[in-house]
Amino acid sequence: MGVQITQTAHAVPQKIMTNQELSQLMDTSDEWIRSRTGIQQRHIATDETTASLCIQVAQQLLQQAKLPATALDFIVVCTMSPDCFTPATAAVVQGAIGATNAFAYDINAACSGFVYGLSVVQHYFQTDQPVRGLLIGGELLSRLLNWQDRTTAVLFGDAAAGVLLENSNTAHLLASDLATYGERGGQLTAGYRGGARQMVNCINQIKPYFQMDGRAIYTFATRGVPASIQRALQLANLTSRQVDHFILHQANTRIIAQVAKRLQQPLSKFPQNMAAYGNTSAASIPLLLDECVKSGRIKRGDILVLSGFGGGLTVGTQIIIY
Ligand code: ACO
Repeated sequence: MGVQITQTAHAVPQKIMTNQELSQLMDTSDEWIRSRTGIQQRHIATDETTASLCIQVAQQLLQQAKLPATALDFIVVCTMSPDCFTPATAAVVQGAIGATNAFAYDINAACSGFVYGLSVVQHYFQTDQPVRGLLIGGELLSRLLNWQDRTTAVLFGDAAAGVLLENSNTAHLLASDLATYGERGGQLTAGYRGGARQMVNCINQIKPYFQMDGRAIYTFATRGVPASIQRALQLANLTSRQVDHFILHQANTRIIAQVAKRLQQPLSKFPQNMAAYGNTSAASIPLLLDECVKSGRIKRGDILVLSGFGGGLTVGTQIIIY
């Protein structure tokens, strides 16, 4: 049996913060943010939480599929910004929607989380029994931002998005490539919460808020993403030309243009929505997927490359027949 994405959905906080509004809070400008990143606005949580956004996504997915929550076998949430360490965000979702037959846990691979998650949950479909599960990327990155630091505060946004996965008679998830470069982890850090005993020396340098060597991450992404895509395509016995849409992590429009150039593919095959949402980490790939599916840009049978990169450092690619 194979596994197929049968539904997609997303949810974002109501409040929108534009580049103009940010420029009143810190020494930045719409022109700088737009030209360096392609971002024009982002959604920022007020009352929403990581779990509440993921619950909205789960409910939408079930509603679209006309399924009761009890039909689910698993719920996996990919997040680097959970509301708390335990219970896991996925467990909160499971309880809130009444998915009493589902087991639930979180995965953290930063902005590569959704792609890593797809690779992990495929395992549950290696059976003849019918299986259904939700894979959701959910982030409240605004809680990891130092609003005085213009080098990071302008980049990120809050969102959740996900998919319903079900068995299928044919293979839809064709191949994946995952790679981690832990020795470079210090180039993108966030979320240190302190502690009396610090067993790992490097932890002392990690702060509660995002700290990033932007140039290093830029170089990592523009080299690492095309290399990961090429490895995954080779495993799937496909070439870049055969791919209909490249659904990349939405961090920076210049990174996407570089990846397109390195793969020698037209930019028109690379849908983008970071202008409206900023970088939403693990939510960004399923959020773009949902928008493309709902607008009709992605159709059943299209060949998709999903590719993410980010903290860890991590990079990951999944090749799909949608
Ligand atoms: N507004 C105005 N000026 C700014 C801002 C800002 N928001 N931020 C930085 N600057 C200034 C800098 O201080 C610097 O000034 P200086 O020349 O006087 O020192 C100048 O702009 C250039 O700064 P750089 O950091 O060199 O700018 P760069 O062109 O590299 O762009 C950026 C920065 C957008 C962060 C880019 O490096 C990038 O996109 N990197 C990739 C980051 C990324 O994708 N991260 C997400 C990873 S995913 C995850 O896991 C969360």
